[in-house]
Amino acid sequence: MGSLIKAEEVVAEGEWSTEAVVYVNGVRRVLPDGLAHLTLLQYLRDIGLTGTKLGCGEGGCGACTVMISCFDERSRKSHSVQCHETHRNFHLLDCKLIFSYYDLYRHYAINACLAPLYSVEGMHVITVEGIGDSGRSLHPIQESLSQAHGSQCGFCTPGFVMSMYALLRSCNEPPSEEKIEECLAGNLCRCTGYRPILDAFRVFAKTDDLIYTKTMSENNLSGDFICPSTGKPCDCGKGTTNSTETSTRGKQYNPFLYNKIDGSLYSEKELIFPPELLLKKVMSLRLHGFEGIKWYRPLRLQQVLDLKSLYRDAKLVIGNTEVGIETKFKNLQYKVLISVTHVPELNILSLNEKGLEIGASVRLIELQKFLRKVIADYPDDKTSSCKAILEQLKWFAGNQIKNVASVGGNICTASPISDLNPLWMAAGAIFQVISCKGNVRTIPAKDFFLSYRKVNLTYDEILLSIFLPWTRHFEFVKEFKQAHRREDDIALVNAGMRVFLKHDHGTLEVLDASIVYGGIAPVSLTATMTENYLIGKKWDDILLQGALKILQEDIVLTENAPGGMVEFRKSLSSSFFFKFFSFVTNELNHKGFLIEGLNATGLSAIQPNYRPLTRGIQCYELTKHGTAVGLPAMHLSSKLQVTGEAEYADDVPTPPNTLHAALILSRKPHARILSIDDSLAKSSPGFIGLFGHRDVPGSNKIGPIIHDEELFASETVTCVGQVIGIVVADTHDNAKIASNKIVVEYEELPAILSIREAVKSCNFFPNTGRCLTKGDVELCFKSGACDKVIDGEVQVGGQEHFYLEPNSSLVWTVDGGNEIHMVSSTQAPQKTQDYVARVLGLPLAKVVCKTKRIGGGFGGKETRSAFITAAASVPSYVLRRPIKITLDRDVDMMITGQRHSFLGKYKVGFTNAGEVLAIDLQLYNNAGNSLDLSAAVLERAMFHSDNVYNIPNMRITGDVCYTNFPSNTAFRGFGGPQGMLIAENWIQRIAMELQKSPEEIRELNFQNDGCMLHYGQVLQSSTVSQLWDQLKQSCSFVRTRENVNMFNLHNRWRKRGVAMVPTKFGISFTTKFMNQAGALVQVYTDGTVLVTHGGVEMGQGLHTKVAQIAASSFNIPLSSVFISETSTDKVPNASPTAASASSDMYGAAVFDACDQIKARMQHIAARNPHSSFAELAKACYLERIDLSAHGFYITPDIGFDWKDGKGSPFSYFTFGAAFAEVEIDTLTGDFYTREADIIMDLGHSLNPAIDVGQIEGAFVQGLGWIALEELKWGDSDHKWIRPGHLYTSGPGTYKIPTANDIPLKLKVSLLKVPYTKTIRWVCCTDLLMCQDGTGTEILDAGVQNTKAIHSSKAVGEPPFFLASAVLFAIKDAIIAARAEEGYHDWFPLDNPATPERIRMACIDNFTKQFTTPEFHPKLSI
Ligand SMILES: Cc1cc2nc3c(=O)[nH]c(=O)nc-3n(C[C@H](O)[C@H](O)[C@H](O)COP(=O)(O)OP(=O)(O)OC[C@H]3O[C@@H](n4cnc5c(N)ncnc54)[C@H](O)[C@@H]3O)c2cc1C
Ligand code: FES
Ligand code: FES
Repeated sequence: MGSLIKAEEVVAEGEWSTEAVVYVNGVRRVLPDGLAHLTLLQYLRDIGLTGTKLGCGEGGCGACTVMISCFDERSRKSHSVQCHETHRNFHLLDCKLIFSYYDLYRHYAINACLAPLYSVEGMHVITVEGIGDSGRSLHPIQESLSQAHGSQCGFCTPGFVMSMYALLRSCNEPPSEEKIEECLAGNLCRCTGYRPILDAFRVFAKTDDLIYTKTMSENNLSGDFICPSTGKPCDCGKGTTNSTETSTRGKQYNPFLYNKIDGSLYSEKELIFPPELLLKKVMSLRLHGFEGIKWYRPLRLQQVLDLKSLYRDAKLVIGNTEVGIETKFKNLQYKVLISVTHVPELNILSLNEKGLEIGASVRLIELQKFLRKVIADYPDDKTSSCKAILEQLKWFAGNQIKNVASVGGNICTASPISDLNPLWMAAGAIFQVISCKGNVRTIPAKDFFLSYRKVNLTYDEILLSIFLPWTRHFEFVKEFKQAHRREDDIALVNAGMRVFLKHDHGTLEVLDASIVYGGIAPVSLTATMTENYLIGKKWDDILLQGALKILQEDIVLTENAPGGMVEFRKSLSSSFFFKFFSFVTNELNHKGFLIEGLNATGLSAIQPNYRPLTRGIQCYELTKHGTAVGLPAMHLSSKLQVTGEAEYADDVPTPPNTLHAALILSRKPHARILSIDDSLAKSSPGFIGLFGHRDVPGSNKIGPIIHDEELFASETVTCVGQVIGIVVADTHDNAKIASNKIVVEYEELPAILSIREAVKSCNFFPNTGRCLTKGDVELCFKSGACDKVIDGEVQVGGQEHFYLEPNSSLVWTVDGGNEIHMVSSTQAPQKTQDYVARVLGLPLAKVVCKTKRIGGGFGGKETRSAFITAAASVPSYVLRRPIKITLDRDVDMMITGQRHSFLGKYKVGFTNAGEVLAIDLQLYNNAGNSLDLSAAVLERAMFHSDNVYNIPNMRITGDVCYTNFPSNTAFRGFGGPQGMLIAENWIQRIAMELQKSPEEIRELNFQNDGCMLHYGQVLQSSTVSQLWDQLKQSCSFVRTRENVNMFNLHNRWRKRGVAMVPTKFGISFTTKFMNQAGALVQVYTDGTVLVTHGGVEMGQGLHTKVAQIAASSFNIPLSSVFISETSTDKVPNASPTAASASSDMYGAAVFDACDQIKARMQHIAARNPHSSFAELAKACYLERIDLSAHGFYITPDIGFDWKDGKGSPFSYFTFGAAFAEVEIDTLTGDFYTREADIIMDLGHSLNPAIDVGQIEGAFVQGLGWIALEELKWGDSDHKWIRPGHLYTSGPGTYKIPTANDIPLKLKVSLLKVPYTKTIRWVCCTDLLMCQDGTGTEILDAGVQNTKAIHSSKAVGEPPFFLASAVLFAIKDAIIAARAEEGYHDWFPLDNPATPERIRMACIDNFTKQFTTPEFHPKLSI
C-alpha cells in the first residue's frame, strides 16, 4: 500500500497536465478531459466535420483518412539554431508551395478511426474540409480528382484526397508516380476501379515543379496543354469536344491552382503549422475517459516505469492499431492506457559496429526510412537482414497504418501472423526489456514468443528496444509473405529465413540456419528439425531435397486448424524454402562462389514482386444531342464529394432529442428462442429501451415480394445475424454497449449450411422451381449427333457488396406521431416507405422516405436496407423520438446478405469441331433464410445461361435453396454473371476436351441476329461479332498468345495466360410491372429547372445523365438543371434503382415531362421572341402557363410468362467483350493482371466519361468476385468457424481490390458509330498513344439503339461479367504450369481464384507432398 501511495504521488506531480490542445483545420480547440474513450474520427464528426467518413472503423478502408502535422521534438533539439531561423521563414515556406517541407515538421496521413483522440494532442489535424471547398475554391487535388471523374459515389473520396494531400505536404519535391500509387494502398474504392483516381493524382508526379506554381497557371491560361504523362506540351489535350470528334480527356488534367473568383493562388491558402504549437511546451498528459478510463502520455521512460508499477494492468499504446481493434471488436476493456509515443528512450534509432538499435516505439514508416538509408550507406553483406525487413514492410498495411504503428506494438502483440516477428527471430535479433525497477535484461527474439499472443515479459516489464545484428559475409536473410491480396493484407503464411555459410576450397557448408514461419502455428514457428538438418550440410540440391522432407515434419497443421487452407499453407512453407534456396544459390552464383547457379527457367522462382505503374486508355467518340446529352460532363456532385461537403445519411444533422439504436442479432443459425433477458442492459448507461416483436404496431411480417420474414424474430431464429430486437440509448456507443448486455438463450435446431445440404434434403422455396427449354435435349443426346457428351459441376462463389457507406437511417415522427419521415441510405426509398408503413400500420401517404445520395449500393441496398430502417421506425414511432441507426461494418456485412453463390450441374453435347448441340443444366442458388429477390436472381441466371452462344437444344432448370444464412440479395448483374460464368466454364471445358482454344469454341457458337433464344425472344441488333473482331485486333490476340507461349517456355515457376470473353446482358426488370418510371420537372422563372425522379444517385451518375437529358430537352446549359434528392412524396411508387435501366427509364420519364412543358411553352415562344430560356420561362409564368409536369415512362414490348417459359423479358441487350492477360507465381498463387482490354457497345452514350467509369468500376468489382473476394462461412468445410457465422466480416479478412490489383494496362473502348472517318484516339494516359494516336479506322458496327433514350444503352451491370476474362486467363496460365508436370486434363477452378486455388491447381512436387493432384480447395457456397 505504501508503495502505491508513493506512485500516486509520482503521477500527481505538477509536470502532468490535463490541458489538451489540438488544432483542427487551423482552429484551436481545447479537448476537454473525459474523452479518452473517443477516437479522433468520433470527435471530428461530433464537431460537424463529417467530410471524414466512417467506412469500417478498423483501419482497413481509408475513408477516415486525415492528415496530422506535428513538430518533431527530436529535430527541435538537434536543429535548435535552424529552428529559430525557420520560425520566421515558416509562413513563407508553407504558404508558397504545396511541397513545402522542413525536417522539423512531419505531415502524415492516419486513419482517424483508430487514432485515440488524445494521441493528436499538440498537433494539427487537417481534414478534407480544411483544404478546400466548393464555395471558396477547390484544392488542386480536389479539382483534379473531380475533373478526372475520380469520384462516383464519393464516400471514399475524402480519404483519397487526404492521402494524396499528406503525400504532397510531406514531400520536398513532387513525388514519383510509384510513390503516389504506394500512398493509396490503404484507401479502398468500390466504384471507380481506381484508374481515374490514379490518373487524377498522377498529374502531381511531375519532375517539373513549375506545374504547381504560378508559372504553371499562367501556362495554362495561355492555352498550352501540359501532358500529365510527360510533363511537356503535348497534343493529347488539344482536341475539342464537339458532336463528332473523338473526345480528348486532356483538359481534365488541368487542376486550377488559383481561385477562379479572386484569382489568388491556391497555395496561398494552404494551412500553416500553428505557431502556438511550435512554441508550446510539450507536457506529460493525464486525462480520463468513459467509465473511469485513465489516459497518460508520459515524456520520460521513468514516468512510464512509475506508471507501470502503479497500474499493473496498464496497457501501453503507440499506434493503437492493435489495441483499437481489441477494444472495438473483441470487447476488451483497458482501464489505464499509457501512450508512449513521446518517450525518447523508446524512439531510439542508432547504429554501432555490431548492428542497429531500434526503440520499441519507433513507427514502421520511420524504420522504413532508416533502413533505406542504412542499406544505401553500408556494404551489401552487412545489410541482408535490413533488406529483408524493408522488403517485408513494403507489403505491411497501408501508409496510414505504417505512419503510426510501432515496431514494439507489432512485437508485443505476438500475433501468429506478424510479418516482422519471423524476421526478427531468423535474423537473430535481441530484445531489450526493462522492468519498473529499471533492470534491463536481453532476450533473443526466438525465445520471446511463448504462446498465442503471449510474450516473455512479466507484468512489470516493457519492451525497450530491438537490437538487429549486421549480417556477415556469406550470411543471407530473406523474407516471404503470401496473403489473399498483395497489398494491405495480413499474411496467410509468412517467413523469415537465414543461412550462414562457410566457404572452404570451393565448397559451401552451412554453419548456421534459421527457418521461421508465421501463419502456421499459434506463435511464429521455428522449423527446428529443418534448421538442425541444414547445419553442416553442403549447399546443394541434396540439401534442398532433404530439407523439404524434414520440413514436412516441422510444419504440423491439423485438418481443422484455425484459418483453414491447410494443404495450401503447408505447400507454401515448402515453396518458400525452395525460393530461399534458389535465392541464396543465385546470390552465391552472382558473387562467383558457386559455379552452377539457377538455370534460366529456374530464375523465375525468385523474380521479385515488382509491379510496374498502371496505365489507362479510354477510347470513345462523342455523339452530342443538344446542349448536354453525349458530353463527358463531370458527375454533378463531384465538387461536393471531393471537398467532403456532400451529405450522406449518417452526415445529416440529428434533431436534439435523437436516440441511437443497435440491433440484437441472433448468434445461432437455427434455434428456438427460449428467453431474452434485458436486466443487465437496463442499468447500462444511457439505455432507453429494448423493442421486439411485441412492440410492432403493425405487421411483424415483411419481405419485398412475399412476406416470409419477421421484422423481429418471435419464436425461432433462422440465421446468425437475424434481428431479434432493437436497443435504443442516448448515444451510438451506449446503444451498442447495452445491446451487448442483452442475453438471449436458445435451443439449437439443425441448420442447413450449404447449397449441397439444401439439395440433398430438397430444401427449396415453394413455387420457385423454374424450367426453360428449347429444342429437345434428350433427343439430341440420344440421336448420336453429338460426338462427345460430358458432364460436370461448377461452383460459383458469392460476393459481399462492400459499398463504402454502411447502411444508415434517421427516422422521426411528424405532427405528434401521425406521420413518419426518414432519411435512408437506400436504393429503394419506395420499398423502405412500404416496409415502414407496413410495420407501423400506417397508410403509405403518411410515410415519407428521402434519399439524397448513397455511398454505393450495387444491389445491396435494394431490399436489405429496408428492414433496418423499419426496425428503427418502431422505437421512433412508439417513443415519438428521432432514432438514428448506422450499422458497423461487420454487422452490415453479417446481416445484409450478399451475391448468391450458385451450383451448376451440366451435361453438354458437342461435335468434334466444337459446335455445341445440347446443354442440360441444373442451377441452384443459395437464397439464405428468406426468399427476398432470390427467385428473380435465379431467373436472370437462367436467362443468361447461354451467354452469347447459339445452342439448338437447351434445358435449364432452377431451384432456389433455403439455407440458414442471412438472406442473399441483388448484386450487380443479379444472377446474370453467375449464369454466364457457368456457361463459360463448360465452353472452356469443351475446348480442353477438344484441345482447341476456348476462343475458337466461343467464336464458332456465336448467336446471330434472328436467333431464337431459349426463352423465346428473337435476338436483334447483336454486335458481338463486331466487338469480338475489334477486340482481337486491339489486343493483338494472335501475337500476344505467341508471346505468352514463349514466356511460359522460359519460365518454370511463373506462367502467363490469356483469354477473351464476350457478354450479352438483358436490359429490363424481368418482372414486367417494375418497368415503369415517374419524374417531376419544374421550371422556375429564372430559367432554372428542378428535376425529381424515382431513381437514387449512388455514384453511377444517374442524376448527371438525367440532368443532361433535361438540359438538352430545353436547350439550356447543364448548369441550369438541378436534382436535389429522391423522395417518395415527390415521385410515388418508384421501382428500386436497379437492373441498369434507371437512365433509360427515368431519362425517358424526364424527357416526357420536358416535352409536356415545352408543348405548353410553344405558343408563348412563338408569340414572344425571347433571348433566353429564363425570359421565356418568365413570359410563360406571366401568361399563367403551368411550368411543372409529371413525366411517365413504361418500357414497351416486354413480357414473359413462366407458365410456358416463353416471351420477351428484355427490351434489348448490351454487348461487350474483354481480353485479359495475367501472370501467376505458380509457387505461391500470387497473380497480377498485365493487361485488360474491354470493348462495349453502349449505343450513343449519354455521357461517355460516366459510362467508361461504370465499365472500369464494374470490371474491377468483377475482378474482385472472380479472383480476390472469398466469403468464408462456418459450414461443414470450415469447421474452425462457428456454425453459420461469417468469418470474413470486415476489410481485414475480406479483400476487395485495391489500386494495386487493377490491370497494369486497362483499355476501355466504346464501339464506334457506323461511318468511316479519321479519328484521334483518346490517349491522355498512354504515352505511346499520345505520340502516335492518329489513324484511320473503318468503323462498321451499327450501334444505334432505338429502344432507349437518345439511342443510348444501359451500362451499370453488363461490364461486370467481363472480368471473367481474368479468371480464364488465370486458368490458361495454370494449364501451362500443369503441363510442365504432365497434367493435361481438365480441372475445376472455382471463383474466386485466390492464391490458394491458383497455387493448389499448379500441381508440382511441393503440393504433392501434402495432397493429391485432384485436390479441390474448399469454398462456402
Ligand atoms: C489495417 C491494419 C493492417 C495491418 N497490417 C499488418 C500487416 O500487414 N502485418 C502485420 O504484422 N501486422 C499488421 N497489422 C497489425 C498491427 O498494425 C501491427 O502489429 C502494429 O505494428 C502494432 O503497432 P501499434 O503501435 O499500433 O500497437 P498498439 O496497438 O499501440 O499496441 C499493440 C500491443 O503492444 C503492446 N506494446 C506496445 N509497445 C510496447 C512496449 N514497449 N512494451 C510492452 N508492450 C508494448 C501494447 O500494450 C499492445 O498490447 C495491421 C493492423 C491493422 C489495423
Ligand atoms: S473507417 Fe477508418 S479505415 Fe475504414
Ligand atoms: S467513389 Fe469510391 S467508393 Fe464510391
